[in-house]
Amino acid sequence: MSNWVRAHTNIALIKYWGKKDEDLIIPMNNSLSLTLDAFYTDTRVTFDDALTADELYLDDMLQDFTALKKVKTVLDLVREKAGIRSKAKVESYNHVPTAAGLASSASGLAALAGAASLAAGLELSSVELSRLARRGSGSASRSIYGGFAEWQKGSSDETSFAVPVDDADWDIGMLFIVVSDKKKDVSSREGMSRTVRTSPFYQGWLDSLDEDLNAMKQAIKKQDIDKVGVIAEQNALKMHATTLGAKPPFTYWSPDSLKAMDSVRALREQGYSVYFTMDAGPNVKLICRQSQLEEIRTHLLSDFTGSQLIAARPGPALHVVTGPEL
Ligand code: DP6
Repeated sequence: MSNWVRAHTNIALIKYWGKKDEDLIIPMNNSLSLTLDAFYTDTRVTFDDALTADELYLDDMLQDFTALKKVKTVLDLVREKAGIRSKAKVESYNHVPTAAGLASSASGLAALAGAASLAAGLELSSVELSRLARRGSGSASRSIYGGFAEWQKGSSDETSFAVPVDDADWDIGMLFIVVSDKKKDVSSREGMSRTVRTSPFYQGWLDSLDEDLNAMKQAIKKQDIDKVGVIAEQNALKMHATTLGAKPPFTYWSPDSLKAMDSVRALREQGYSVYFTMDAGPNVKLICRQSQLEEIRTHLLSDFTGSQLIAARPGPALHVVTGPEL
């Protein structure tokens, strides 16, 4: 039986940062991302009357209660919708290049939404899958789609979901600079919550978003890599600025993140269309032309090792696969 589902991770170019409703995961702002081919999760769910509790195996290792929390939220919603009472075994394989430390909740929770609904016999639309994935982790709502996707914030569980924006079938790619594979000190969930509650810069962030989002959509339509890059880089810097105003303050940047940003600026001075973005961790993600990925990677080899530099291209939507890639 083929009930393995694959979801690819996505990186936001306009960031999701802050929730209006922490239980339902309704965001404060719309966000827009690019789904990537390089990182994905394969997941299978089996509902089994013989089980007395839900079980999560990640890369063949049984996970503890903390890891199960987001998973249980999605499983409970699926059980409720399908009228199932049995507990579930969830098997998941994260496909990330060795020790990259990029395992993402986006691909994980999107794959789970797909696999759990499939195992329960539910036939959900993309919008329904996006809403379900959102309840596990906000950014997962966007990993239902390939290419560019926009998570429209909405104002309720019904109205908050992602939609496809563009298939990204043009000259755009991303290059990951992996500067650390350590677990982050402040999770994105805690970081955004603290920022919303305590940072005086948060309102400034929110006020600038409509303009960023509209400009980004125009730039994508025109396939203008420089505009996409400039807007994404500024948007990421603004998001990260909010964390410095929080109480207590925090930052996801490490000295190596700054080194990576400097390398990007130097490459720009040499004439390359290359920009950066960062999420809730020290790794830096470059936005550039797909056709220049290898050339840019070669330049960066003077500052970073080969295993720190991972090229990614636009990736596909959630789909069923015959078996997991181990
Ligand atoms: C910085 O989706 O991990 O990557 O909804 O609390 O699970 P929860 O948060 P999560 O946050 C991602 C934040 C971000 C920006 C983004 O992906 O848009």
